[in-house]
Amino acid sequence: TSDHLRHVDSMGTLPSGTGKISYLNAVILGDSLASEENDLVLPSPEFSSQALIPSSDKYIEMYRRSIVDPAGFWSEIASLFYWKQKWSDQVYSENMDVRKGPINIEWFKGGITNVCFNALDRNVQAGLGAKTAIYWEGNEPGQDGSLTYTDLLERVCQLANYLKDIGVGKGDAVVIYLPMLMELPIAMLACARIAAVHSVVFAGFSAESLAQRITDCKPKAVITCNAVCRGSKVIHLKDIVDTALVESAKNGVSVDVCLTYENQSAMKRETTNWMEGRDAWWQDTVPKFPTTCDVEWVDAEDPLFLLYTSGSTGKPKGVLHTTGGFMVYTATTFKYAFDYKLSDIYWCTADCGWITGHSYVTYGPLLNGATVIVFEGAPNYPDPGRCWDIVDKYKVTLFYTAPTLVRSLMREGNEYVTRYSRKSLRVLGSVGEPINPSAWRWFFNVVGDSRCPISDTWWQTETGGFMITPLPGAWPLKPGSATFPFFGVQPVIVDDKGTELEGECSGYLCVKSSWPGAFRTLYGDHERYETTYFKPFPGYYFSGDGCSRDKDGYHWLTGRVDDVINVSGHRIGSAEVESALVSHPQCAEAAVVGVEHEVKGQAIYAFVTLVEGVPYSEELRKSLVATVRNQIGAFAAPDNIHWAPGLPKTRSGKIMRRILRKIASRQLDELGDTSTLADPSVVDQLIALRDC
Ligand code: WTA
Repeated sequence: TSDHLRHVDSMGTLPSGTGKISYLNAVILGDSLASEENDLVLPSPEFSSQALIPSSDKYIEMYRRSIVDPAGFWSEIASLFYWKQKWSDQVYSENMDVRKGPINIEWFKGGITNVCFNALDRNVQAGLGAKTAIYWEGNEPGQDGSLTYTDLLERVCQLANYLKDIGVGKGDAVVIYLPMLMELPIAMLACARIAAVHSVVFAGFSAESLAQRITDCKPKAVITCNAVCRGSKVIHLKDIVDTALVESAKNGVSVDVCLTYENQSAMKRETTNWMEGRDAWWQDTVPKFPTTCDVEWVDAEDPLFLLYTSGSTGKPKGVLHTTGGFMVYTATTFKYAFDYKLSDIYWCTADCGWITGHSYVTYGPLLNGATVIVFEGAPNYPDPGRCWDIVDKYKVTLFYTAPTLVRSLMREGNEYVTRYSRKSLRVLGSVGEPINPSAWRWFFNVVGDSRCPISDTWWQTETGGFMITPLPGAWPLKPGSATFPFFGVQPVIVDDKGTELEGECSGYLCVKSSWPGAFRTLYGDHERYETTYFKPFPGYYFSGDGCSRDKDGYHWLTGRVDDVINVSGHRIGSAEVESALVSHPQCAEAAVVGVEHEVKGQAIYAFVTLVEGVPYSEELRKSLVATVRNQIGAFAAPDNIHWAPGLPKTRSGKIMRRILRKIASRQLDELGDTSTLADPSVVDQLIALRDC
């Protein structure tokens, strides 16, 4: 433990309100604006005094306990949930060291529970039945709806009964391909209730990507809707599912049931393509089922869901989360990072198709009995004031979004923000990519009127919940820093050789020891799980991110260090885009890198070589971009296609992406050593063609 505590003690050098911080030019929240010159933004005394964690001392005390005695710390928290049967004496067991055998993480093993029961029945039994669980806001202003906890429980039970009726049982996969309708969290919870494993696929993925995921997890059913309006566009989701199911059938995976919600505002059922025998209308079938449904009690280590995410190879990875640890971890992180109170109205702008929507639209908030907003539309439709319109309409207190949205709204000017009151706001949150200090300040000063702390939460699909995050009220904030680890999390920064760095440093971000929300495997490929995450730096979980720690112990995330590109907070594997490009009959080879983008954070920049004799043209460029849209989704479309006669390769044939990144971002004086290339003249050709 002395080793563990070094880290805690180094954080303890920043006591609240005294010593070190006093000579920094600190501001008090609400007192003056956070500006370029000010390093620290202190929580206001009014905020801190009402906060769950009111001081850094309190944080340090709890953090210390969570590291010295994780079993005691987490079992106390877990006891706040309902367990049909308590876990065995051993709260957790783990092997995170590949040198000592297979990686294995278990929390609350032997404990019998159900996440849906804890999110709904438990809250209803505690008297929250009449409380609003979900406010739904449609694409068009004025389109809305809501469900109380009792309503939500009944809807979930009806769908759970329907799923059981069509033969879905414990451990069966169900693919959900829905936009942000209330039916999306309903579908997730219904699966959880009957111990089916949901795999939500973001409804912006193409038929091809959907088919790939269906082929991998072989679901008993797919749940979708006929169409959705996004801004002024109508997207026919059911057609995409139809195409995907034809595709997956070719791969030997046929799905018997496609439950389709009729999303009337987007499309009427009469014009929806239909396959008799396989397809069923949600509205015709589900409401016929009883509004109560027995819970399927499961072991804490039984799977809850699969969520596919991008990695550095072409094939998406099925990140598997289990029941007990995920439940305890998402609920607890939600509560502390947003300083959650029962009276809060919470809005997370993420889609349930990504992990943020799993942990912090559906599970974390509902487990706390929170009121959640589910927004179907686009944040700039009908105009860039929509978010603040919604904030005022529902009196949102906790607002959680992504830096890309902050930057895009910032460009539209303050007018769209200041014409709304926003006085209900209490805490702001950011996720998905590093938030640049200027966006942070705009978010803080303009959106939050210099009054609301910002929780910049660093975490990943794999981590299940927040890992490094401010706890509002506890710490002075630094614009752009995710600050300190959550309870029980031991982040370490290592160098190339895997040596832990001390004090002020910069390197690869890893995590020592497990935490309850950690993913347990990659579906069907435990070896890839070990290779990707645990072999690079033996003894640690490797995040794939770079990070530095400053003299005060604050963490600054610097972005991915692998071949993952972060476009508007969406993770895209460069290899996935490359394989889409080379599937184009006229593309011979492709190499994809990320370049800085003012709004999206990163944009995709693709170098392509063409099949012998094919001339490059604008038409071909468009058709290459269309190929990526069709194979992955519009969000993965390259911003730039750079035609290349050849790619810079080492003598052994490896593409030197480092050089391509420099060319793409015009940092030509930083090309570095090109002498190891098989043909160094390729570089000059590429530079010459940079703007073609
Ligand atoms: C990045 C999203 C900096 C990071 C929850 C990580 C961040 C990847 C932050 C995971 C943050 C997420 N600051 N970078 N606050 N949050 N990231 O799996 O590169 O979609 O590895 O999970 O997003 O993306 P994922």
